Amino acid sequence: MARVSRRSAIEPFHVMEVLRAAAERARSHGDALPLCAGQPATPAPAAVRRAAEHAMAAEVLGYTEATGILPLREAIAAHHRRQDGTDVTAEDVVVTTGSSGAFALLFLAAFEAGDTVAMARPGYPAYRNTLAALGCRVLELDCGAESRYQPTVAMLEQLPEPPAGLIVASPANPTGTIIDPDELAALARWCESHGTLLVSDEIYHGISFGRPTASAWRTSREAVVVGSVSKYFSMTGWRLGWALLPRALRRPVEVLTQNLTICPPAIAQHAAVAAFTPEARAELDGHVARYAETRELLLDRLPALGLDSFAPPDGGFYAWCDIGHLTDDSVAWCQDVLARTGVALTPGVDFDTAHGRRWVRLSFAGSTAEVAEALDRMAAAGVLRAR
Ligand SMILES: Cc1ncc(COP(=O)(O)O)c(C=O)c1O
Repeated sequence: MARVSRRSAIEPFHVMEVLRAAAERARSHGDALPLCAGQPATPAPAAVRRAAEHAMAAEVLGYTEATGILPLREAIAAHHRRQDGTDVTAEDVVVTTGSSGAFALLFLAAFEAGDTVAMARPGYPAYRNTLAALGCRVLELDCGAESRYQPTVAMLEQLPEPPAGLIVASPANPTGTIIDPDELAALARWCESHGTLLVSDEIYHGISFGRPTASAWRTSREAVVVGSVSKYFSMTGWRLGWALLPRALRRPVEVLTQNLTICPPAIAQHAAVAAFTPEARAELDGHVARYAETRELLLDRLPALGLDSFAPPDGGFYAWCDIGHLTDDSVAWCQDVLARTGVALTPGVDFDTAHGRRWVRLSFAGSTAEVAEALDRMAAAGVLRAR
């Protein structure tokens, strides 16, 4: 039998398994409503699709520079200057294969096997699973409603020693909560002064509903800022992300990229330059207006349906709902809801290793009508009720 390493024995990304079940339901019943997918239902902006066609016709599309083509790195730097008021240049940017690629590169470049890296629980599971595969120790900070489900300096102060790294996401997945700019600045200062690498996942920036989002680079250029075209830019399958790197990490990340993937996909890079144009932004802001409308619908209807305990959806497109009064097995509950209604939700176990059996994540990245229909079906089937 072929050899299999112990370190590859990590948790599956359960969301992907729910997506598969939803696809089966679509085939068997033709009525699936996939409120499980953390991705926009819309294609890339028209300007990007035109740029892709042009690149197909005009470019060789061979390997590119490992860190990404200069026009794209310049466009990303300009985007951060405009959005965050930070002084970013193309030299600070490395383009990666999705932000997922950035995390793998960064963890390899910054951490030794055995290092401790802290993150919020609930939090995005791939951080935990990728770090585990690399032999790092993951320290989950139990984050509840009192801190908007986000880590705080007070939590770090209580640790026996500063961790090698801290990962924060704001807006977060699965909760959608935003870290207040002052708290993010305090976290960045604490990390800088304690030798902890702050990795600030800012891939949901651009999708927020009134609360301000800040970039960690406003406070500390010793932090890493991670971005992606997957969420606001509506380009998940194009597999492009990026990181703004402190100077010391630039060369290690470049050399690792050269060896691990050579470069991110060339066609996606050429096309993505157009994602940062005013034309594309106007189209994308239209999607954000739709997310806002759907979020209002949820804020209005969820309590009436009995789901009155959920994290404040400050940004992104998720509602993280407490279903503890309905079940203590969110996996079985979601399977039952899918079987009875065709509505696919994501059980909380992916995101919270301690309490996830009592929570569920609902994505409102699809159309408002689809979300309304899902709520109608769940109400009609009697799968929800007040606590
Ligand atoms: C918080 C967070 N970070 C990173 C990612 C990875 O996204 P991508 O690799 O498509 O950029 C996701 C995907 O859902 C996410 O929710």
